[in-house]
Amino acid sequence: MIKWNDKYSVGIPKIDEEHKKLIGIINKAVAASRHKDNSREIIGILREMSDFAQTHFATEETYMLECGYPDYEQHKKEHQDFTIETIAFLDDVGKGDSMLAHEILEHLKIWFVSHIQGTDRGYIDCFKKHGLV
Ligand SMILES: [Fe+2]
Repeated sequence: MIKWNDKYSVGIPKIDEEHKKLIGIINKAVAASRHKDNSREIIGILREMSDFAQTHFATEETYMLECGYPDYEQHKKEHQDFTIETIAFLDDVGKGDSMLAHEILEHLKIWFVSHIQGTDRGYIDCFKKHGLV
């Protein structure tokens, strides 16, 4: 489980809210990973996460474009890699290996927390300077 911590905050309410929602969905998947015969349930939750991640990435990418953020391309690529990876995971979980599902969720958790504490911090000044928040 990921517990929201103020150190995850980027200081931009709309983005913090979206990050909290994604954490909530990831936690739901982690809880489901403890259920029996859970592959369909986990696939459903991973789809929900992937759909909401698209909405959220679009929020960040729109702001980045609006403020002329210099690392836009690189940041967008991280989002794309995450999306591609999640789709591959959906296939893997579909094969029904619960150990694999556990590893996948650990990987998603680590990616997400390190992304919001690292890459996402890069745009804070740019967004604030351009009055986007
Ligand atoms: Fe991001």
